[in-house]
Amino acid sequence: MTEQSLHEVNPLDPEILACPYAFNQRLREEAPVYHCPVTGVYFVSDYANVVDVAKNEKRFSNEFSMIQAGSTPPRDPEMEAILKKGYRRVDTMLTADPPRQRRYRSLCQKPFSASSVAKLQPYIETLAHELIDEIIDRGQCNWMEAFAVPMPVRMIAYILGVPLTDMALFKEWSDANVYSFSAGQTREGALRAAELVVDFQHYFAEKIESRKKNPTDDVLSDIVNSSADGEHPMNTEECLSVISQLLVAGNETTTSTFAEGMHLLATHPEQVDLVQKDPRLIPNMVEEMLRLSTPTAQMWRICREDTEVSGVKIPAGATMMIKFGSANRDAGQFPEPDAFDVTRDNLKTQIAFGQGVHHCLGAPLARQELIVGFRVILQRMTGFRVPKGQETLEFMPSLLLHPPTDLNIEFDRLA
Ligand code: HEM
Repeated sequence: MTEQSLHEVNPLDPEILACPYAFNQRLREEAPVYHCPVTGVYFVSDYANVVDVAKNEKRFSNEFSMIQAGSTPPRDPEMEAILKKGYRRVDTMLTADPPRQRRYRSLCQKPFSASSVAKLQPYIETLAHELIDEIIDRGQCNWMEAFAVPMPVRMIAYILGVPLTDMALFKEWSDANVYSFSAGQTREGALRAAELVVDFQHYFAEKIESRKKNPTDDVLSDIVNSSADGEHPMNTEECLSVISQLLVAGNETTTSTFAEGMHLLATHPEQVDLVQKDPRLIPNMVEEMLRLSTPTAQMWRICREDTEVSGVKIPAGATMMIKFGSANRDAGQFPEPDAFDVTRDNLKTQIAFGQGVHHCLGAPLARQELIVGFRVILQRMTGFRVPKGQETLEFMPSLLLHPPTDLNIEFDRLA
């Protein structure tokens, strides 16, 4: 069978989004900056150019929320009726450009700084032990349900002061907020997601009001009441936008790395041996898991002015997609890029958390969760295996993220 020419391929095809590796390699080799005639989008896929574009916020804008909005049905009366019950969506950190982005970010910075996050270590450790206590005698489990989903959900809920009793709702809201990224949207799905987003808004609007009137010493009070240079604190709509970003960014991505990381352990026993013999390798192992999983696989950018990237002309107003996942598997930067090697020595240069002014606000939290979480896992469990017939990890087609669908594992008890 003859291979399709690059120009005939739709890079946003759900099959390619779910399994992008071969196509990304082709892009890096044939056209690292590629104007796709099928979608009109400019795709940037090699390490050097992804870093350059991500670091150049003056030429490439993050004000891309209208692209996401464009993927829901236009002027659907039922949708409009649902949205009317909620709060207006406003652009804050991820979907804003400096100086507005800087303002929002500085208002949220404190609770996510490395020193604040370090204080969460005992809680993360307790949580990891609690989750493993539940499965340790079983020898097998659904890893998504047992650990990869509840760990980050409970962490971000704890940080935002959501009680355990509301946890199931919280995960549903997180999934609903992420629905607009999914490549297989249906009208029913979009309506249901919109209803859940409205519920989420009302739940937090009440909490925001209460923290504005009676501040406590929790993170939500910090976010809701902090102000910079004599400016007003954020209004309710701005707070809701920030909280929904924390919810989505804090859940889906970390879940993906816990899942893909576990799958890597279950398929590379020799690497498990290395880290169990020398646990000082765990932070490096986590960076390698982040590199290979890159849960925020790609992000939109809008070109602000006529420009050129690597000799390709890009006009003002063009839609671009920068492919962090592809950059992290660029052989020019990471030799044998598809190999899982916990001793790789240049992982400080992996870019799963992005680059430049939008570099992930939650990177210290995600790293802490992953390092502490995997340390506990490797102290208590070993001999990780995937059941026969389930060796390949499958992914959902998503425009921006790369979420695994499911993962069952078998293991032996250590402690
Ligand atoms: C493995 C976990 C995570 C990964 C791989 C990840 C990845 C990323 C990436 C690539 C960006 C930059 C997007 C761009 O350049 O347009 C980003 C931004 C962001 N992330 Fe994360 N993230 C993770 C966890 C978290 C967590 C735990 C939180 C917070 C609770 C968080 C909050 C944010 C926020 C608020 C932004 C926007 C920052 C801004 O635009 O100034 N992320 N993340």
